[in-house]
Amino acid sequence: MHLANLRSVVRGCGAYLPERILTNDELSRMVDTSDEWIAQRTGIRERHIAAEGETTSQLGAKAAQAALDNAGLTADDIDLVICATSTPDYTFPATATQIQHALGIKQGVAFDLQAVCSGFVFALTTADKFLTSGSHKRALVIGAETFSRLLDWEDRGTCVLFGDGAGAVILEAQTGTQSLKDRGVLTSHLRSDGQHRSKLFVDGGPGSTRTVGHLRMEGREVFRFAVGMITDVIEDALSALGLTAADIDWLVPHQANRRIIDASAQKLGFAPEKVVVTVERHGNTSAASIPLALCEAVSDGRIKKGDLVLIESLGGGFTWGSAIIRW
Ligand code: UT7
Repeated sequence: MHLANLRSVVRGCGAYLPERILTNDELSRMVDTSDEWIAQRTGIRERHIAAEGETTSQLGAKAAQAALDNAGLTADDIDLVICATSTPDYTFPATATQIQHALGIKQGVAFDLQAVCSGFVFALTTADKFLTSGSHKRALVIGAETFSRLLDWEDRGTCVLFGDGAGAVILEAQTGTQSLKDRGVLTSHLRSDGQHRSKLFVDGGPGSTRTVGHLRMEGREVFRFAVGMITDVIEDALSALGLTAADIDWLVPHQANRRIIDASAQKLGFAPEKVVVTVERHGNTSAASIPLALCEAVSDGRIKKGDLVLIESLGGGFTWGSAIIRW
C-alpha cells in the first residue's frame, strides 16, 4: 500500500432525529412570530427537539450505530471517532469519548472538534488527514447537536432557526489511483476568520462567564457575508480538481436558510434539482445538518455509489469550508 495513494472512502452513513417535532405554528404561540414569516425568510417549517435528559452524545451514538449497521461494520472496526459539536454533554470529557464508550469501541482515539456549523466539514477533513497519513484505518465522523439548549426561547430572531439531531459517516482508508475516478474525499478546503465573532456567538462559557450562555446572532450581518464566503470556498474546491458545477452530481450544503442555499447555488450555476435541501423539516442543526442531509439523500436513492458530492458550510467564528467526495 502506497501512502500517497490512500483515499478516505465512504463506507456508510446514519442519522438520528429526536422524536419531538416543533412546528412554526407552535412557535408562534411562544414568541411574536408566524409560520408565514419563518417559512418565507428561512424555508423552515419544523424542527426536532431533544427530549428532557436526551444528550448530544445519545443522539450521536444512535446516528453512529446506524452508520455502523449501514456499513456492515462493528465497534471493533473503528479506530478513530471525531464528533463535531458545539453542544457537548459536558465541558469535558469530549462527547466523542462518550459515543466511543456507548458503542463499545475500546481501541483507537476519540475527540471533539468545534467549528460550529462548519464542524462536519472540518471533522471530515481532519479524519481524511488521519486516514490518508496511514495512521488510522476507519473513522466515524459524527455531527451531533442539541442547539435547543443554547437558545434564548424569548428571542424570536434566533429561536425559530435551529433544531437538534445527529448524522454520521464512516470513512475507510483504501488504496486509490490518484485520479478523479477514485472513490473518497478528493479535495477539502477549510477557512476561518475570528474577526466576525460578534455576528454569531454564545454569550457564555466556562472561561468567561462560567455559564453555558445563549446563542446571539446578527442575522442580517451573517446573511450579508454568507453567500460570498460559501461561493468562494466552493470555487476553491471545484478549481482544485479542474471541475465546474456541471460536473457535480449533488450539492449538499449546510442547512441554515433556504435563501442562502438558493442564492449560492444560483450564483455558481448548480441546477436546483441537484441541491439536497432538508432545512424545511430539520431547521439549522449546525454540525449535524450536512450528515443528516447526506443520509437522507443516500437512503432515498438520490446519492449513489460513484456520484460526485460537494459539501459546504459556514458557521460561527466565522468558519467555512467545502469538500468534494466521490461517494
Ligand atoms: O448556520 C449559520 C448561521 N446563521 C445563518 O445563516 C443565518 C443568516 N441570517 C438569516 O437567515 C436571516 O438574516 C434571518 C432569517 C435570521 C432574518 O431574516 P432577515 O430577512 O435578515 O430579517 P431581519 O433580521 O432583517 O429582520 C426583519 C424584521 C425585523 O423587524 P423590523 O425591524 O423590520 O420591524 C425583525 O424584528 O423581522 C423581524 N423578525 C421577525 N418577525 C417575525 C425577526 N425575527 C422574526 C420572527 N418572526 N421570528
